[in-house]
Amino acid sequence: MSSSSKVVLLPGDGIGPEIVAQAARILALFPHISTTTHLVGGAAIDATGSPFPDTTRDAVSSADAILLGAVGGPKWEAQAVRPEQGLLAMRKHLDLFANIRPVFFPAEKCRALSPLKPETLAGFDKSIVVRELVSGIYFGARTEANYSVSEVEAHDQMTYKQSEIARITHLAAHLALASSPPEPVTLVDKANVLATSRLWRKTVTDIMAQSYPQIPFSTCLVDAAAMHMIKDPKKLNGIVLTENLFGDILSDEASVIPGSLGLMPSASLAGLEKGKPGLYEPIHGSAPDIAGQGKANPIGTILSVAMMFRYSLNMPWEAELIEEAVRAAIDAGTVTADLGGSATTAAVGDLIVTLVEAAL
Ligand code: NAI
Ligand code: MG
Repeated sequence: MSSSSKVVLLPGDGIGPEIVAQAARILALFPHISTTTHLVGGAAIDATGSPFPDTTRDAVSSADAILLGAVGGPKWEAQAVRPEQGLLAMRKHLDLFANIRPVFFPAEKCRALSPLKPETLAGFDKSIVVRELVSGIYFGARTEANYSVSEVEAHDQMTYKQSEIARITHLAAHLALASSPPEPVTLVDKANVLATSRLWRKTVTDIMAQSYPQIPFSTCLVDAAAMHMIKDPKKLNGIVLTENLFGDILSDEASVIPGSLGLMPSASLAGLEKGKPGLYEPIHGSAPDIAGQGKANPIGTILSVAMMFRYSLNMPWEAELIEEAVRAAIDAGTVTADLGGSATTAAVGDLIVTLVEAAL
């Protein structure tokens, strides 16, 4: 456990404040962790005109870790300045190049909620999508369509530097080595068509062979990977390493496996070494349809705190306590409506906080 840690809370919009409030109760169990709360997204636009105000930028820059709820909502959709711009600006500012999204069942009971058949899920344990987050086609040169000419064209450019591929490959390999035996790593690309994918294929294959021969390594074309994810997900057990666009699509596809969007956490990191803040958030959005009603499932946010403890705060034992408490709460049936229960957001938080506190 580190001596003292600074965590910035960014509740954001919609259900964000409700779910972050429950996660903050877990953080409050640890006296060496101090928290401050700042504005981001729509709430920040309303208060300051900017979705990522300077005060928030300063706070996140000097934090050990950041916990975000969600941003966005119908209120800001038609505006020129949008809440999501705050999130993109923060990712770029902190160089959060690795988006880590584990897909798993927080309790065995959750398997029954999956839209996939039990026989399809047999053998599927955990898939961790490691997506490159600050390069590729989302950050390449763009030409918007000009409708005044007879043949209208638009361009998006996908560019990758070898150094960008190498750094996320080392990060993925380190995650694989955190398990014993090491988790297998699957590179997902489109090397039969794209030049950038061929650069990924050569760079990743060389690094894995030279530096990590003990890690089982394979490659898979993205179209086949999309099919395996719903037809035979055990083929993607372990680490799924991929570029920005493919990772965006595949991680959303994979997120349906656990049965509720409210369950899954994520981390966005600028590396595994200490000293650079990591951003942790549930994978879902601001859920305006249920905001303010006490219906939001706080588990994705609480499991994001577990990821924060593991990757940023050097508290792996405490991370396991949180995961164990979540498992026990689900097994006890203290769950929100998305998991078929009737518990409120706060009631789920109450039980998980009590269980973690009792285990400390
Ligand atoms: P959403 O994830 O907010 O909601 C989709 C559905 O899942 C809704 O029916 C919602 O009630 C339910 N849901 C989501 N989280 C839940 C939870 N914790 N517990 C129980 N049910 C939950 O996606 P949607 O509706 O497409 O987007 C709403 C807003 O969120 C939009 O403004 C969108 O841009 C934004 N958004 C923000 C993200 C972020 O902050 N990282 C990510 C995705 C969307
Ligand atoms: Mg997406």
